[in-house]
Amino acid sequence: MYNAYFGFSEAPFSLSPDPAFFYRSEQHEEALANLVYGVQARKGFIVLTGEVGTGKTTMLECLRDYLETQYYEFAFLFNSRINSDQFFEMIAYDLNLPCARTSKTEVLFALNQLLVEQAQEGRTVVLIVDEAHNLEWEVLEEIRLLGNLENRHGKLLQIILAGQPEFDRKLDAPNLRQLKQRVVLRCELEPFTLADATEYMETRLEKAGMSEQTVFPEELIADIHLRSRGIPRIINAICDNLLLTAFAQELKVCTREMLDEVCQDMRLEWPGMRRLQRVANESFDRSTY
Ligand SMILES: Nc1ncnc2c1ncn2[C@@H]1O[C@H](COP(=O)(O)OP(=O)(O)O)[C@@H](O)[C@H]1O
Ligand SMILES: [Mg+2]
Repeated sequence: MYNAYFGFSEAPFSLSPDPAFFYRSEQHEEALANLVYGVQARKGFIVLTGEVGTGKTTMLECLRDYLETQYYEFAFLFNSRINSDQFFEMIAYDLNLPCARTSKTEVLFALNQLLVEQAQEGRTVVLIVDEAHNLEWEVLEEIRLLGNLENRHGKLLQIILAGQPEFDRKLDAPNLRQLKQRVVLRCELEPFTLADATEYMETRLEKAGMSEQTVFPEELIADIHLRSRGIPRIINAICDNLLLTAFAQELKVCTREMLDEVCQDMRLEWPGMRRLQRVANESFDRSTY
């Protein structure tokens, strides 16, 4: 909507997990390197956790790109609210297994064959499950069993489970202890620091065609970082709304007032917000006497 007004070639703060906009903060870089290493070294189970909106799905999309360029066979399950029949059906579909996809026995047989074939060629197969915190126990148990398949060189199937922090807590449950013990690599995505958030916003604007950004003054960026708690998805939503507001007001630079309005519209809450509001109300009360 505002792209032409600011001279962007595409929307800089879209909410889609587009690897083309991937910003490699130190921790994102490290987490991605860990995922790639885990696959290459055939480590078996890898868990990626992070709060909602910290970039897990985007990172998995980057991993998908990597797997594709390296011609790995992989299945990517992004819908985790499934039962075990659907689980096997989806794996069979993604890996294009030549079998009756609704028969668990046939799927397991065909999968095993694929794993062995790939292993003979010195390759491995990857299963990625996003939103793993939603997985039912019975599906987690099937996943654990798949993770047992191995030859003398390592695991035959590399399993990457990405989910919100409660997934880690779920793995603490007594019936999932066996799965937890098999997790050899863990990566966690934390919200951005101010320095990262600043670079993140600049990188996105640059990718959209604004190389030296002039729309967000430095103090405003610090405020956006505070109010978003450093979470990329919230940063995107705030920035998108800010740009829209500036466009509506025919201004080229976003302001603190616009940010207040946007945060109010978004019903956003952030640390220290109530204290600031109290101070503002008190000084308002005093001025009315
Ligand atoms: N490192 C990053 N580089 C670029 N964009 C990111 C990054 N991390 C998160 N985002 C953006 O933040 C939003 C939320 O990311 P997403 O991967 O959906 O988070 P999650 O899956 O953890 O909830 C998306 O718009 C995504 O493009
Ligand atoms: Mg996600």
